[in-house]
Amino acid sequence: MADTIDRVGRLVSALTREEKLRLVRGAPDPEGTATGYVPGVERLGVPEYRLVDGPLGVRAEGERATAFPASLALAATFEPELARRQGAALAREAKARGQDALLAPGVNLVRVPQCGRNFEYFSEDPLLAARFAAGVVEGIQGEDVIATAKHYVANNQERNRTDVNAAVDERTLRERYLPAFRAAVEAGVGSVMTAYNRVNGTHMSDHRYLVRDVLKGEWGFEGYVVSDWYGLESTVGAANAGLDLEMPGVPVTELHGPADGDGPTEAEEDADVASLDGIPDGTRAGFFGEPLADAIDDGAVPADRLDDMVRRILGQLARVGLLDGRRDDGAIDTPEHRDLAERIAVRGTVLLENDGVLPLEDGANVAVIGPNVHEPTLGGGGSSETTPFSAVSPREGMSSRAAGEVTVARGVREIEDVSLFDRLPFVERKSPEDEGVEEHASDPSIEEAVAAAESADVAVVFVRDATTEARDRDDLRLPGEQDALIESVAAAAERTVVVVNSGGPVEVPWREDVEALLEAWYPGQAHGDAIAAVLYGDRDPGGRLPVTFAREEDYPATEETRYPGVDGEATYAEGLFVGYRHFDAAGREPTYPFGHGHSYADFRYGDATATDRATVRVAVENLAERTGREVVQAYVRPPAAPDGIARPVRELAGVATIELPAGATRTVDVELDERAFARYDPERGWVTDAGRYVVEVGRSSRDVRTTVGVDRD
Ligand code: BGC
Repeated sequence: MADTIDRVGRLVSALTREEKLRLVRGAPDPEGTATGYVPGVERLGVPEYRLVDGPLGVRAEGERATAFPASLALAATFEPELARRQGAALAREAKARGQDALLAPGVNLVRVPQCGRNFEYFSEDPLLAARFAAGVVEGIQGEDVIATAKHYVANNQERNRTDVNAAVDERTLRERYLPAFRAAVEAGVGSVMTAYNRVNGTHMSDHRYLVRDVLKGEWGFEGYVVSDWYGLESTVGAANAGLDLEMPGVPVTELHGPADGDGPTEAEEDADVASLDGIPDGTRAGFFGEPLADAIDDGAVPADRLDDMVRRILGQLARVGLLDGRRDDGAIDTPEHRDLAERIAVRGTVLLENDGVLPLEDGANVAVIGPNVHEPTLGGGGSSETTPFSAVSPREGMSSRAAGEVTVARGVREIEDVSLFDRLPFVERKSPEDEGVEEHASDPSIEEAVAAAESADVAVVFVRDATTEARDRDDLRLPGEQDALIESVAAAAERTVVVVNSGGPVEVPWREDVEALLEAWYPGQAHGDAIAAVLYGDRDPGGRLPVTFAREEDYPATEETRYPGVDGEATYAEGLFVGYRHFDAAGREPTYPFGHGHSYADFRYGDATATDRATVRVAVENLAERTGREVVQAYVRPPAAPDGIARPVRELAGVATIELPAGATRTVDVELDERAFARYDPERGWVTDAGRYVVEVGRSSRDVRTTVGVDRD
């Protein structure tokens, strides 16, 4: 450590100012694969440095990579160890593509269900989000790749994302929106990316309080702070607030060149990129070039700030061995990565309802229905898009697993993917060619789907949404005619199973008409195999909801002032009461509560005891004749707080996952997070009120099986 500091210090003294300025501003990647690129300084042995998107897979331009399940699916496993493993796999793939830093994980809280990027985030619960943030960071960095926690902070909607001001009070920031970032810092994250939005009136790249004072000061973050792409607004403000690296550093036209190689078309020239909602202005770059030199000459930015920026960046390069030229080759598309992508997809699948129709019998005749059954749902649109080497569609997965007859009917028109990239006039997509896209012989019809359902033993209907970065969903309904398709099939079929693939909660108005319902998120390349393994019972559906499912009007941020905001401001007036905390406080019934998810097994809980102030112990018995996976959840119910201070009814404090063979009983210890007992007091910081706290232990936030009191003094 001391050696690294000396070494980086010596380098900083040896660099000229020109060289330092080049290290804090991105440039075009000569190889054209990176999302962000920093040229090195050859004479001093500082290597060039590549940053690449993103949380679901490595998005090196024009190249393939393993397409992992979306972050929300990962979080639905409730098992941070899988986050560690996914992070490590992403890092190995990044190295195989010659990349040095990953622009992942995305750790923003799921505040509004409409947010187009919820699939890239973990949860509405700060503890769950924090555990997964730490897991991914540890996984990535254990492989000597730099992780980037993004987008700091309160980037909770895509609507007007480049401009919206999040008006949020200090306690809410501390208890809800900051914990996942803090956990990433505690896990040693090398980089934090600032968000596009403002918080309490200040653009995040200029936010002295949140960047310099809280992130770097209070939390002791020693890595570098990178801007989001075209996310800088000023030179002096950003430099003095603690921003260390401008990305991508050059205007979009310099990075990609005009789309057709013949110069922009008239239409492209007319397109006012900056005026498109959610699209950053790609002409705004170079704040850290000459303008930074001038600001230092003027005395507006202290010269040692530039040294600090460089020190922070080089410190990370040193930490992962890049200054020693230590780069192993990594690995991509290995059997291990493919298996992991499938395992996470299985474990993240949430069985919301099951009247006993599942698991399917091997020999059942199955109608596989749905507009997109011929293609895997890889993810949402935007910077996290990944092109896999191979992928399995639901139709393929079901056909290869089924022993009975499989008939396929699309039913209604295909739901088309949406992508941020389709809205960027100057960006040419360099994804590898799509292979094997099926041509359809005829138009789909609901009649055809009904006929298939009538002649089968069971109908499995696959439905999905389509979400993207830079755009929120208009509503929580399934798009197109999919609700009508489900209703018709459910009326005709003897038994109907619905599998939803979505980037967040959706409304399921037909749920009482179907025999089983699963939420499988965006499962990535293993889609078909993973869902077939769950439906046929080869694997227990391991997932639990990391977000509450409810009707749109029942969520807390329904008033326009809260979301999407009025006159450019979204007021976080619900405060602490995000997600299940709102439903609990308002006494409102969600459709499916936070933490919910069935297993094919059936569990009995014994009485919980507190082994010490931070651990509760409970015996869990598997009553079923098959192995099952249980997610034991502990929530803390605080005693009444001093006058005028609100506390949620319950807060997630700990989770333990176990695999239990048929008939087995195990004692499970759930570690409780200290902050679940505490509240943030703007004057005193984190405080724990004395008194008796009730720890609820159970299967979801609304399915408490046993409780135990824990005293605090
Ligand atoms: C996104 C970031 C991403 C960056 C680079 C931005 O539009 O908000 O998450 O890492 O682009 O692709």
